[in-house]
Amino acid sequence: MFSVQDKSIIITGANSGIGKETAEVLAARGAHVTMASRSVDRGEEAKADILKRIPYAQLEVGQCDLSSLASVAAFAAAYQERNNKLYALINNAGVVTTRREMTEDGFEKMLGVNHIGHFYLTTQLLPLLMREDNARVITLSSGAYKWGDIDFADPHLDRTFGIWKGYARSKLANVLFTVELARRLKTSFVNAVSVHPGAASTEIGVDRETGFGKKVHTVLRPILKSSREGAATTIHLASTRELINGGYYYEGGKRQELKGKALDADLAKELWEWGEKEIRQRGF
Ligand SMILES: NC(=O)c1ccc[n+]([C@@H]2O[C@H](COP(=O)([O-])OP(=O)(O)OC[C@H]3O[C@@H](n4cnc5c(N)ncnc54)[C@H](OP(=O)(O)O)[C@@H]3O)[C@@H](O)[C@H]2O)c1
Repeated sequence: MFSVQDKSIIITGANSGIGKETAEVLAARGAHVTMASRSVDRGEEAKADILKRIPYAQLEVGQCDLSSLASVAAFAAAYQERNNKLYALINNAGVVTTRREMTEDGFEKMLGVNHIGHFYLTTQLLPLLMREDNARVITLSSGAYKWGDIDFADPHLDRTFGIWKGYARSKLANVLFTVELARRLKTSFVNAVSVHPGAASTEIGVDRETGFGKKVHTVLRPILKSSREGAATTIHLASTRELINGGYYYEGGKRQELKGKALDADLAKELWEWGEKEIRQRGF
């Protein structure tokens, strides 16, 4: 076990579900946690709620909408202006959309938020991570990655949108991103790992405007993990010395061999280069 006391940690999507639980536990252990939230109001609400239980928690809220490259760039720049260290970047935020939606920059939303936003955020913050011993990038994927496919001929799913197809693809992208990042970090002190948190009762898939999807969670709650249980693997990875660079972890910290397309190192490299090109083409 590794002390996170006074370590600087960024968690995306820290105002809800697994991200909020992760923020609470790591802050309770003395970490300085920046809660990257697309809504500052929701971020401040979550922060106030955590402070009720952990009054000494060192928490800050930063505005970061992963569906906007401009917002990600502004968040990363503001963070680096105020901080000169970063021990862990926890790419936790995730979205499921029931119909095809696009990000501000024209990416299919599940790929755009779950992968592209985190990909860009990570590349912006890597220089800071590189300065810290034992730094880590922890990216939330899902066992759904096994059903994912990446088709560069239809990157925005305008021909073949499906909820599961889009989500599984974005979660495969999270794993492939980690594999390629780990390869690029091989000679550094930074480790990159991905996580399957298990099926947990959170707000995932619930429409924030209409509440659609809430009932499904209510019905499934008895057989799902709690958000706190869902956060266990991330919390473990944030505070262990025993990280395998490129590893995929589940169930509170067990490592599992990757399967299927996630083993394709060429696909991982292609996805990285595709992402870089797409982001550059948009002027970032
Ligand atoms: N729960 C599960 O069973 C399960 C299973 C496998 C994997 N996962 C993964 O675990 C991670 C956490 O999910 P969760 O279950 O805790 O879901 P959640 O309760 O819905 O939390 C998701 C978080 O992501 C944020 N988010 C959504 N769109 C965003 C955007 N454009 N920019 C910034 N943040 C955004 C949400 O913010 P708002 O509140 O503003 O919407 C929220 O804070 C996700 O990556 C998910 O894919 C979850």
